[in-house]
Amino acid sequence: MSIVITGATGKLGRLIIERLLEQVPAQQIVACVRRLDPGKPYEAQGIEVRYCDYDRPESLAAAFAGATRLLMISSPHHDDTIRLRQHAHVIEAAKQSKVEHLLYTGFAFPERGACSPVWMHLATEYAIRAAGMPFTFLRNALYTDFVQALDLPAAISKGRLDVAPGDWSFHSVTRRDLAEAIAAVLAAPGEHHNRTYELTAPGTWNFADLAAILSELSGRPVAVQHDSSVRHWIYGFLSRIDTSSTSDDLVHLLGRPITTLRESVKELLAP
Ligand SMILES: NC(=O)c1ccc[n+]([C@@H]2O[C@H](COP(=O)([O-])OP(=O)(O)OC[C@H]3O[C@@H](n4cnc5c(N)ncnc54)[C@H](OP(=O)(O)O)[C@@H]3O)[C@@H](O)[C@H]2O)c1
Repeated sequence: MSIVITGATGKLGRLIIERLLEQVPAQQIVACVRRLDPGKPYEAQGIEVRYCDYDRPESLAAAFAGATRLLMISSPHHDDTIRLRQHAHVIEAAKQSKVEHLLYTGFAFPERGACSPVWMHLATEYAIRAAGMPFTFLRNALYTDFVQALDLPAAISKGRLDVAPGDWSFHSVTRRDLAEAIAAVLAAPGEHHNRTYELTAPGTWNFADLAAILSELSGRPVAVQHDSSVRHWIYGFLSRIDTSSTSDDLVHLLGRPITTLRESVKELLAP
């Protein structure tokens, strides 16, 4: 059996492999990397490292050879047309390599969004269905670290969390929780075929909750200020995706509560 993971040098990929190592022997894991140097620490752990570049389809058959399970971590490319082509390369190679089970990290509740990244994730899911092999769709919520775009240290020093006007609420989660759940799915042979998981928090939080946490952690009052002069690209993205639908899928896969917003923010603020 071999569990092959693309994007293994990325933040999510590293965390998934870290958790997977607690459940399966290193010899069963293959880390696929676009750059071999950052993959070297895996070799020291007994994990096979293979070269894999989504833009070089000729690299993919050898990378995926013998894969019982292949986890495709979505490409970080900023152009969704290129991402779709990269994903199509992976799907085609997975099919040719007779991968037994293809798992894909998409985005939560994509049908309820209206922008190119969610359409790209949906298109990838349909391409995987069309390829005809067993699949699992691991639809990741927004990572909680998106709050760094709000400049939390500045909010603490001003005593004011300036946000764009709107009725915002969020089902975000940490990469670490997602990684643990995804590792649990990868480690469970024969299960999870043709399932779709919405990996969100089971409840939502809003900017007032975030301001209260900043106050508590800093010992200084922080209030939310809705300000129409606030300009940040992230609000355009947030307004076009579903940030507030919830699911218990992540909690079920983890078998424990998710990391709280307070713990996540505390970690993000740590020096
Ligand atoms: N849910 C969310 O809020 C959210 C937020 C941001 C991104 N995402 C998506 O989630 C994915 C994983 O997140 P992350 O934090 O782990 O991202 P990340 O740290 O940027 O990792 C991306 C991984 O993809 C690899 N990669 C890039 N281009 C590639 C190519 N042409 N061929 C093969 N591998 C390639 C990178 O390799 P190198 O080390 O060589 O660059 C890296 O290992 C992202 O790629 C993105 O699609 C989700």
